[in-house]
Amino acid sequence: MQNKLYFCTNTKMSKGLTESLSYLKDLQTLLSDLPQKDIELAVMLPFTALYPARQICLKSNILLGAQNVCQETDFSFTGEISAPMLKELNLDCVMIGHSERRRKAGETDSMINQKVLFALSENLTVFLGISETASEKQYMISDEVLRIQLKRSLYGIRAEQVPLLRILYEPAWAIGKDSSCIPPDYVGKKHNTIRSCLCELFGSDTGSSIPVIYGGSVSPSNACRLIDQPNVDGLGIGRSAWDAFTFNCLIRNVQEHVNQSTSKGDKPYAENFK
Ligand code: 13P
Repeated sequence: MQNKLYFCTNTKMSKGLTESLSYLKDLQTLLSDLPQKDIELAVMLPFTALYPARQICLKSNILLGAQNVCQETDFSFTGEISAPMLKELNLDCVMIGHSERRRKAGETDSMINQKVLFALSENLTVFLGISETASEKQYMISDEVLRIQLKRSLYGIRAEQVPLLRILYEPAWAIGKDSSCIPPDYVGKKHNTIRSCLCELFGSDTGSSIPVIYGGSVSPSNACRLIDQPNVDGLGIGRSAWDAFTFNCLIRNVQEHVNQSTSKGDKPYAENFK
């Protein structure tokens, strides 16, 4: 059970430098009144926008992050960006193991584990992507796949680093689809599996404290049904967040919905949502 709602967006390659900066400025203005104690919002921009983006949101309540990081710190990786290089930009967070990087860029659990360890050692908050494919879902091995990805990707993390961890469950089959194709109860079941695996890994108190965020065709029409699911602590949003005004409305609707649900006792959120 978390005491916050978590939202993040990954703009992928949808925006270059100019568009990323104007998007960030709009988001910052629209969301400037959101209390950080209730809501965590992270925006993952492309590498080319990160330095000027940091200057824009130096004092903002938005966490700024990269969409990837190299699994090495050695200089001989032409074209890559290391965790210390991200930290030098004073970034807050980084997304690691997104489904598109696992499948289209061929990233393995062991590469992802190294990325996670390097990012944590630089005190970057890590949004760890885990996901199953459509065929793994069809073979009914989603739970096994998610557990293996979690156990391999999080290997070697120290207890004191856990507060920097966010789990982002974004199944490959759910990304870029129509929001009506996403069964909320399936999402809830997978989040229960993820939670139980985290508790196995870190013990029940620490495992329960790690935010688990759902992503994949989240939209204004399904966001509230998804946040109602057990162990869904937040939403990771692609297309429906890439317009700052739509994203702002979505966040506020979900927050309002959660406030109302908790006053009815529907889902046990923490104190500040009661
Ligand atoms: P969509 O919300 O566009 O399906 O993208 C999800 C995603 O990949 C976010 O990281």
